[in-house]
Amino acid sequence: MSVPDSVCAYDAPESVSAYDRDMDLMHPLRHKMAAVILEVLPFPREAPVGFLDLGAGTGFLTDRVLQAWPNATIIAIDGAAAMVELARARLADSASRVRFVVADFRALPAGLCAPGSLDAVVSAYALHHLTGGEKRDLIARALTWLRPGGWFLNADLTRAMDPAVEQRIQQLRVSGILQRKPAGDPRFLDDITTRAFLDELELRDQDRPLPLSEDIALAREAGLVSAEVLWKEYREAVCGGPFNTHASH
Ligand SMILES: C[S@@+](CC[C@H](N)C(=O)[O-])C[C@H]1O[C@@H](n2cnc3c(N)ncnc32)[C@H](O)[C@@H]1O
Repeated sequence: MSVPDSVCAYDAPESVSAYDRDMDLMHPLRHKMAAVILEVLPFPREAPVGFLDLGAGTGFLTDRVLQAWPNATIIAIDGAAAMVELARARLADSASRVRFVVADFRALPAGLCAPGSLDAVVSAYALHHLTGGEKRDLIARALTWLRPGGWFLNADLTRAMDPAVEQRIQQLRVSGILQRKPAGDPRFLDDITTRAFLDELELRDQDRPLPLSEDIALAREAGLVSAEVLWKEYREAVCGGPFNTHASH
């Protein structure tokens, strides 16, 4: 299986060095979404919980998890070695609690984790790089690693079903970036340059966000029958639920 463009894009030094700065500019809601994930997970703060972060990138969400649960351990998976190197640097103080894995989501070995061994599988801004079928297969595999009652939570991009609504959301996205951008950034001079930059970026990164109803439907097909939308603002959402809750009683 060849390396997908969505991974190659994140292995390029020029994208990686500016990654977190650009995420704050283009996706300031990432902080809110991480906070929602931490708030929803019903684990005591001192519990020795086991996590998996799918598409950990530079370790933004992994870091939040490790801070929230000081006895947690986490497997941080990403296809881009350059992103994982930044995550290693960011998480150096918690190195003993993190296992880094460089791997393609579409070919994760079943033996990556012991069956039923994890308390939570989390992900941020990563699964929209997959096709619907690839996402469903990945969720199904991740669920095999969750204990009964463990949680799957995904903070990610979506798109509106109605083209007029999507167009308005995209206009709000562009105006938000123009309000936040640092002076003189040539990528974001006005609506036209910003739109052109975003279109090129999405093509390069192979972004393919789905309408939220489709994301929920495929999570349920994958076996997460509890899947719900927990939080949403325009084109960003946190979805998921507990797995196989009946088996835990
Ligand atoms: C937008 S970044 C999100 C990183 C991080 N979770 C965050 O919130 O900042 C998407 C990440 O998904 C990874 N990715 C995309 N497609 C992948 C695939 N097929 N297998 C593994 N990782 C993939 C990329 O390498 C990248 O690090």
